[in-house]
Amino acid sequence: MKHLTFILTAAWAVTAAVGAPTLAGTEPPVVGANLVNEPYKQTAAEQEATFRILQAAGVHVIRAGIPGNDQGLAFAQGAYAHGIKIEWLLGVYPDPGTPWPRLPDAYKSKGLWRGWPLSTANADAFKANIGAQLAELESKGVVLAGFELGNEINWTGFNADFPLPAQGRVLNEKDLASDPEGRKIAQGYLRYLQTLAALKDIRDHSMLNRRTPIISGGLADLDDSGKWLRSVKADAVSVDATLHFLQANGLDQLVDGYGLHFYPLAISPGSAQGQAALRAHLELNGLTQCAPPGAAKGKPCWVTEWNFNGLKGLDACPIDDSSRIAMVGEMRSVLHDLADQNRLGGSLYYTWQGQIHAPKEDHDSAFLCGALTESGRLAVAPNIADLMAGNLISDTHSEAIKQRPCDIYAAGNTPCIAAHSTVRSLYAKYTGALYQVKRASDDAAQDIGLLSDGYANAATQDAFCTNTTCVVTRIYDQSTKHNDLSISSGGRYKGPGPNGSDLGAAADALPVTAGGHQVYGVSISPGMGYRNNRTSDVAVNGKPEGMYMISSGTHFNSGCCFDYGNAEVSGTDTGAAHMDAVNVTEDLSWADCRNEPGLGVQADLENGLFHWNQRSCNPASSVSGGHPFISAWLKNNGQTTFALKWGNAQSGGLNTIYSGALPAGYAPMRQEGAIILGVGGDNSHASAGSFFEGVMTAGFPTDGADNAVQSNIVAVGYGAPTGLAGTLMPGSEISLQATTACCIGDYVRNLNGAVVIAPITPSSAEQDKSDATWIVRRGLADNSCVSFESRNNPGDFLRQQNLALHMQPFDGTASNRVDATFCPQAGKNQKGSSFHLVNDPTRYVRHYYGKVYVASDGDSTNPWSTPVHWSDDVSFIVGPPWSP
Ligand code: AHR
Repeated sequence: MKHLTFILTAAWAVTAAVGAPTLAGTEPPVVGANLVNEPYKQTAAEQEATFRILQAAGVHVIRAGIPGNDQGLAFAQGAYAHGIKIEWLLGVYPDPGTPWPRLPDAYKSKGLWRGWPLSTANADAFKANIGAQLAELESKGVVLAGFELGNEINWTGFNADFPLPAQGRVLNEKDLASDPEGRKIAQGYLRYLQTLAALKDIRDHSMLNRRTPIISGGLADLDDSGKWLRSVKADAVSVDATLHFLQANGLDQLVDGYGLHFYPLAISPGSAQGQAALRAHLELNGLTQCAPPGAAKGKPCWVTEWNFNGLKGLDACPIDDSSRIAMVGEMRSVLHDLADQNRLGGSLYYTWQGQIHAPKEDHDSAFLCGALTESGRLAVAPNIADLMAGNLISDTHSEAIKQRPCDIYAAGNTPCIAAHSTVRSLYAKYTGALYQVKRASDDAAQDIGLLSDGYANAATQDAFCTNTTCVVTRIYDQSTKHNDLSISSGGRYKGPGPNGSDLGAAADALPVTAGGHQVYGVSISPGMGYRNNRTSDVAVNGKPEGMYMISSGTHFNSGCCFDYGNAEVSGTDTGAAHMDAVNVTEDLSWADCRNEPGLGVQADLENGLFHWNQRSCNPASSVSGGHPFISAWLKNNGQTTFALKWGNAQSGGLNTIYSGALPAGYAPMRQEGAIILGVGGDNSHASAGSFFEGVMTAGFPTDGADNAVQSNIVAVGYGAPTGLAGTLMPGSEISLQATTACCIGDYVRNLNGAVVIAPITPSSAEQDKSDATWIVRRGLADNSCVSFESRNNPGDFLRQQNLALHMQPFDGTASNRVDATFCPQAGKNQKGSSFHLVNDPTRYVRHYYGKVYVASDGDSTNPWSTPVHWSDDVSFIVGPPWSP
């Protein structure tokens, strides 16, 4: 229960209240903030600024009321166009003629408010009004994060069925059945359920929001002594009693989540005692009612307001944020645990900002003294791991990172002597840096380290590279051998970089999801490559070794040589058997393979990519299926035999390509012990490919160890959904639906590199669905805009070329960045969103006769810029992905 100021909107009082988010499924909880202080009363420019700051802070869900007028509609559209979904706080509608329950003057200074008596809640009036309002929102393409009906209905503050003055009582379940005051409140609760049923009916028959969750109104929390209620002479029903009563009368059939509010008292922030008190407060106020989706009883909880009572240091600028930072860490630690148990649907911090244009700030705001506070940033950070990176939360999740690939190989007596990744630690206990980036603006370098769960802290890179570009200069070896990879200085074949060196990969060219985080892989285009010619303990002269790399099954070419592994220390071709590297490429070297073009996994043993022990094509080396992430494996006993395997890095086990004798002339091996990535032994650098992780071992690993490592890789969840589906927030998977009358069943899709609109339905082929699914990325040329990466071709982005849209690999060049960056605005036909080129605000993504272009409104130099249907053709509904 918030005991301080809460600014009630006119809309709340008359038509609605503030609401809460999502269908509590197995998706990760949504994280966001309340924006309840009449944000729609800001000017358009102020709203735009607010949305941009929210976006920059990673907020993609806000809890807000939406008045049923033009202001409300414009606000909801504006938020949605910025990738921000509203958890709509709705209020009940009273029986006609019910007088507004005015708060007696004597109570106005006590932090109390009023709300319609629930016993007057009129489900028919609600249905008529909200049904019409939702239809209007949907006509503009607005999809919501949730519907939350009512706010703190369990106390005097928002439910006028409670008497005033009262005695400061906390009523229990028995009172709801037998006490005169309790029976009146119970009657109101039953009317509230009728309105919930009306809301469910509206939701279930809506066009765009059938999957939007319904949340019961956030219940006010009580302190265990009831002191505050007594001091203000207000009554309440306990959270548990309210939920039990509602459950007994059908609540669980009507909602997808329970709304709860938590305002624990700040007791010794940061201490064990404080943490225990915080947990006790939450348990007293509904935490035990939270259940996973589908549980026999209970629903996931949506903590639709949370903040703290009794915090000091926030009333004057500059603020002392330290106590709130500690409290936020404690609260998110509890929420993190709840989320891990699948019992949390959402967390919405109270509040983003205070009353619009108020002379004094609300000290509960995330945004204070003109800036986003650190505590606020941590409260709304989308991923709990961001907090753990700041050491705010003790890592209770180290269990989850018990074993990594090199731990598995060590246990099998084939320890890693090289372990490279820009994505994750390859040992559970590794805590060092993963890689180094260098930025163009001042040539400064920055190491990129780990979050506490062992995944790359990509936010460090994003911050360091803001407003400039970065390349990956080094990939650290996580083994004790320090076999780091640096940009190759060249070899027999010189690279295009300074003094014949190769180029480094653009650091942000390959954003992917791993372990639930947005991280970056290494995207190699021709001319790029990494190497270490002076290594320690890498196999030489016929010693056994094993290796794998995670690469892409869709980003490749046929140029020599996308290798990871053992090569010549001189960077020149020193003859057969001087290399032992796993290779991922379209291998056209053997004539009989040219009939079956496509990706394969081979062994580069020098002067030959071997699929088996013949100089010919082994069909088993072919990697079919267009998997966005594959694992490629080579092991060699150095004397007589070698084995090749491949796997889908997202699911399943390993496929053996070959296991048997080495080719003639290659037994024994004569490895030299350099390590290469993305080039051939002689520094041939014509290849393209993606790299996410790779290890090399001393010794020939067992198949059992390889299988265990493959399972470990699959568990990473490479490229898995982020839970941000359907928004324009970076990381979100989306579809883009046309809004022109001709084509409303059509979606923007890739068709062999061209970009078109085409019909997609639930029964479309999986390939078509994934071709019509895009991942939103921070704009490659401007952080405040967006880029669209192909769902099934990591590293390929939508880009304009000669005003037509294509899907192409991002190569890190400045022109490619600009051509692939689009800035969203509200849809030009008032539906969904429109996207203009970052460097040309007059040219928008447009479909025209089935193809997709960028077009201005009426430029006569090209047919697709015709003004006819322009505003419809440039407006797209950003919807859920076809291929999750
Ligand atoms: O074996 C294939 C390639 O041939 C090697 O990587 C390179 O050194 C040579 O050009």
